[in-house]
Amino acid sequence: MSDWTRLTTVETVYENRSWLFTVRDQYGEPDEAILVPCEDGVEHGSTNSRPGADDGVEAWINRCTHEAQRFDTGRGVAMRDGQLICPKHGSMFDACSGYCDNGEAADTTLPSVDISVDDGVVYLTDDDLTFAHAGGIDDGDDENDDDGPASTSHIGF
Ligand code: FES
Repeated sequence: MSDWTRLTTVETVYENRSWLFTVRDQYGEPDEAILVPCEDGVEHGSTNSRPGADDGVEAWINRCTHEAQRFDTGRGVAMRDGQLICPKHGSMFDACSGYCDNGEAADTTLPSVDISVDDGVVYLTDDDLTFAHAGGIDDGDDENDDDGPASTSHIGF
């Protein structure tokens, strides 16, 4: 069993409609990820309107497959009908599968981040990623601050 790192609760993801966090890959490079509600997953556990305890959240890298555009730029992910909307050219990605069938990013799928949900709590379980902090890369006021100006709106290469 791999390490589980507590991220947040399913309820928080549903309340805020998305939850941004920063991870590090095996080389220590930071990247951003997002938790989003996956409404399909709610159906099989729910006898009420609250999110199911076992499901209902998916995690994706916070970057469009078309260009390096963040979905959540600090104000939450724009979503409609269970789909994430890319703020740059408007391609929409299924929140549950990560698949896009429209626009500039058609026929691509977002890179997924492994998570598990246990008793309404979302955990990062991805063997390739470690949790850095909540929020975007620039929100972590640690040693990486001199990587670039905090006002930049795009992710570095
Ligand atoms: S950058 Fe997302 S559709 Fe073009």
